[in-house]
Amino acid sequence: MVSFMRNSASSAYRGSEFLVGLDLGTSKITVVVAEREGPSGEAQIIGIGQAPSTGIRKGQIVNIDQTVKSLKRAIEDAENMVGQNLSEATVAFSGANVQSIKKKGLISLGRSPRTVIRFDIERVIESAQNDLSVPGGQMILHTIPVEYSLDGTSGIDDPLGMAGMRLEIELMSVIVPVAIVQNVKNCVTRAGLGVSGLVIKPLASSLGALTSEEIVVGSVVVDFGGGTCGVSVFSEGRPKHLAVISVGGEHITNDIAVVLKIPTNKAEEIKKELSLFSDSILAEQDKLEFEYMGRAYACPLDKLTDVVQCRVEELFSIYIKNEIAASGVTSLPGGLVITGGGSKSAGIDQYLAKLVNMPVRVSLPLDSGRMPPSRNGVEYTCAAGIIRYVLEKERDPLKYIDYSFESENINIADPIVPALPAKKTVFQNVVNLFKELF
Ligand SMILES: Nc1ncnc2c1ncn2[C@@H]1O[C@H](COP(=O)(O)OP(=O)(O)O)[C@@H](O)[C@H]1O
Ligand SMILES: [Mg+2]
Repeated sequence: MVSFMRNSASSAYRGSEFLVGLDLGTSKITVVVAEREGPSGEAQIIGIGQAPSTGIRKGQIVNIDQTVKSLKRAIEDAENMVGQNLSEATVAFSGANVQSIKKKGLISLGRSPRTVIRFDIERVIESAQNDLSVPGGQMILHTIPVEYSLDGTSGIDDPLGMAGMRLEIELMSVIVPVAIVQNVKNCVTRAGLGVSGLVIKPLASSLGALTSEEIVVGSVVVDFGGGTCGVSVFSEGRPKHLAVISVGGEHITNDIAVVLKIPTNKAEEIKKELSLFSDSILAEQDKLEFEYMGRAYACPLDKLTDVVQCRVEELFSIYIKNEIAASGVTSLPGGLVITGGGSKSAGIDQYLAKLVNMPVRVSLPLDSGRMPPSRNGVEYTCAAGIIRYVLEKERDPLKYIDYSFESENINIADPIVPALPAKKTVFQNVVNLFKELF
């Protein structure tokens, strides 16, 4: 799995004691290092390195050299913090064209009830995958069981060990363009780290933010980043939908820059200082007045708040609402959980609560109390979530299945689907694709 490289004979660290996550954000690249806490299966974050991200736009790598430079700086920052060289990491990335597609699968367990074994779960997963056609140039990044049913009873949390005659599954496949994965892999390896796993950012962010209660009752997480918003809908303990929207805080900055006719760096400064979502009614004479590069600027404040609120309204009332609808989840008592740098805007939670008519909570990383001070804010939820993702996958390898499950941990010659005819399955196609890639 993810590990440190031993860099000195005196080092007390053992490879498997450490977990490393890498968050490829549009504003910054973050490297998170966690140390395992003995046999408890938990891990404590001991270091977070970061660097501004210059080669990524709308979540997608647009400049390899710049991305590699940013990565090297972030890795070095983390290595300095923990006093060790890092060797490999689980990488969280996003990009346009991320699709989550759900398919159903069914297998018979026999004419009389019998206990479900792991092999049955693998078989039913495959039966759902057989129904999925992956378009050319795309690949399955995650295979996530969304719901199990036994003999028609839905909502089975874990069928392993339960008795029945018919096992059904609803399976979510997260499909991404192969080229995006290749670019991510190239940049990270060129920056000197091996890729031990990949995770789509909204999944990592939601695991970094949601309490166990929110995961069960039903909640939607929005990671409001620089160039993208990650959206995930959870219910009954499992993710039901994952999506990336190519709109983020940078769009608000650009809107402000256009309205005020100023460069984006000044607009970014103004955005962070102003209360753009405040409840107080603005009077016509309320103006934003400032001097910049020897020029005096003045703009009615209500004009500015209108523009920003329109952008956010479009994002939440149209794009994010569409993703919630696509999840098929109709009850979300856990409400909307927002995180990421964009959730730092003063008053955005009250504003959104009215807009989406749901309870809204701005979420720090769940682990923030045990993260390095000043690197434990909302911008680090995704990074912290990568560690939770890796640990959850270790605890239950059938909860989030990705290429490491198929091509590394499981030998293809192993009897993962031994009783099935030796036809080329989607599973095998994915394995082959990854073999070519890595
Ligand atoms: N105080 C603030 N108020 C409003 N927006 C903020 C604030 N601080 C950061 N942001 C915005 O958050 C975004 C970056 O969020 P972050 O989660 O770090 O992004 P990414 O994961 O894409 O790198 C930027 O658009 C930035 O302008
Ligand atoms: Mg982020």
